Amino acid sequence: MRIFASLSLAGLMAASLTANSQTPAASQVALTPPMGWNSWNYFFEKVTDKNIRDSADQIVASGMKDAGYNYVNIDDTWEGERDANGVLHTNAKFPDMKALADYVHSKGLKIGIYSSPGPKTCAGYEGSLGHELQDAQLYASWGIDYLKYDLCSFIGDVLQKHAPNDKAEQMRIMKAAYEKMDKALKSTGRPIVFSFCQYGWDAVWEWGPEAGANLWRTTGDISPHWDRIYAIASQQAGLASYAGPGHWNDPDMLEVGNGKLSLAENRTHFSWWAMLAAPMLAGNDLSNMKPEIQAILTNRDVIAIDQDPLGKQASRVYSDGEVEVWSRPLVGGALAIAIVDVGDNRYATHPFHLNLAKLGLHGPQVGKDLWTGKPVTLTDGQPIEIASHDILLVRIASPK
Ligand code: GLA
Repeated sequence: MRIFASLSLAGLMAASLTANSQTPAASQVALTPPMGWNSWNYFFEKVTDKNIRDSADQIVASGMKDAGYNYVNIDDTWEGERDANGVLHTNAKFPDMKALADYVHSKGLKIGIYSSPGPKTCAGYEGSLGHELQDAQLYASWGIDYLKYDLCSFIGDVLQKHAPNDKAEQMRIMKAAYEKMDKALKSTGRPIVFSFCQYGWDAVWEWGPEAGANLWRTTGDISPHWDRIYAIASQQAGLASYAGPGHWNDPDMLEVGNGKLSLAENRTHFSWWAMLAAPMLAGNDLSNMKPEIQAILTNRDVIAIDQDPLGKQASRVYSDGEVEVWSRPLVGGALAIAIVDVGDNRYATHPFHLNLAKLGLHGPQVGKDLWTGKPVTLTDGQPIEIASHDILLVRIASPK
């Protein structure tokens, strides 16, 4: 049985009344990296209205909302079919999107949705091609606050068809498709975070912000495996200068609490994303979250690194074989340092030795270990033992 969502005419009219005016609010979204939860990494195509409501409830109950998580994002597979007027309806898993959005909003949270510039989404559901304005108005009428726009079938059905042997032309067409949806979203007058998902093609960090991106995926999909998480983290080296308030590199959603990641791997993944000023979209099953995972996701000190108002992303300062050292400048002249053992094993009697000069630091540095919560002093040449895939994350309030 297919249950169609009701499209409120009043909502549509309100949306079009405010059309063509980019409100100051619309340009104020994502001043720090968006935080929240997204359905894909755990529920995949099985996500339902109930899962979204339960997740909203859990974000509140678990303390995640208080810690800063506020977007509840529905990923792919909510879409139904278009009616004779081209209006998109939801499928039976989402009987009433407006009611769902109202529910999420009633918890003091925001709601996000997903589409594609192509005719179909990655999971084969209805995309927005040729209906961009209509869809943007529909989202606004539901009260949607965030759109993830995923390239998917646009590759085969548009790019390869229209410019089969011309990569440069393909990239121009792709950029235009993102700009088109940006214009459509802005014309609704509703502040909607615009998340580009085109896997980092054509160095999106260089043109994404001017095409309307508040965030852009920099790589292909994440999965809950250390090697994939490390590969993605590695590929963020060199991108720091592109991130800033309102526009962020997106190394993909969090896998914390998913698959068979060890506690060290969960901690390192979360810390690394914080260093990268990455959007923090949890992707686990919040209704069955273990306390140790909840503790990681709600570590306020680590979240404060991610959300630092300066908005400067970390850079890899140096690496010493399997140990990488990243640093991130923070507001007020503070500094965050992450030392990660990225290797599978470290068979040695000689631990890693810290080189403060490479970090631009001189003499002992007093900081806080953000996972033990205890003060630490870092000294030059200091031997540091870090277990495989684990991290030492330190905030230095007054680096010297
Ligand atoms: C792509 C995206 C994922 C997810 C799926 C949904 O693979 O990169 O994040 O949105 O599509 O089909």
